[in-house]
Amino acid sequence: MYHDSRDLTGFVDGTANPAPSDAPAVACIAAGEPGAGGCHVMTQRWVHDLASFGELGVPDQERVIGRTKLDSVALPSESRPADSHITRAEIHDAAGEERPIYRRSTPYGTAAEQGLFFLAFSAERDRFDAMLAQMYGTDGGGIRDRLLDFSMPVTGSYYFAPSAEALSGLGA
Ligand code: HEM
Repeated sequence: MYHDSRDLTGFVDGTANPAPSDAPAVACIAAGEPGAGGCHVMTQRWVHDLASFGELGVPDQERVIGRTKLDSVALPSESRPADSHITRAEIHDAAGEERPIYRRSTPYGTAAEQGLFFLAFSAERDRFDAMLAQMYGTDGGGIRDRLLDFSMPVTGSYYFAPSAEALSGLGA
């Protein structure tokens, strides 16, 4: 944990996460579905260019993320750039409902390299795919997340985390 759950860019990471009471439904596969109680997990190690990010003034940094730096308030939609991170990372279903994930990322750093170890959980793997496509600009819209000008993923993995019950069953 870095300060009050901040990423090393200085922005709070996790503000729009589902509340703890809602997180299991977001992160875990529903009862009756294949893999019920398990989670799809995505990890990525990101390396930041903090020097370049630090050269931006705070208002411009806020346009990169889409939230204010001090208190993590979302910029009004009419003034939030289409390439801001929260705009790119938000995905919706056909009915316009948001499709959330549950994030538990961790900042890391040495004197030479700093970044974020991204870690997230979802009941459906394709929520990750859709978010990454919107961020990378490969969703057909052609808008790339401006955060990518200041940070780069150098690893990426998908895992499936079975429920505790399923794991115990394997042991038997
Ligand atoms: C360098 C890597 C990243 C950094 C520094 C970062 C940082 C942030 C920050 C500061 C916020 C705003 C506060 C919050 O709601 O948590 C945010 C929101 C979010 N991020 Fe990231 N993030 C990164 C990568 C990713 C990736 C790879 C994904 C998904 C594949 C992602 C998904 C989201 C989502 C879903 C939100 C909430 C959007 C909303 O407001 O609905 N982020 N991130």
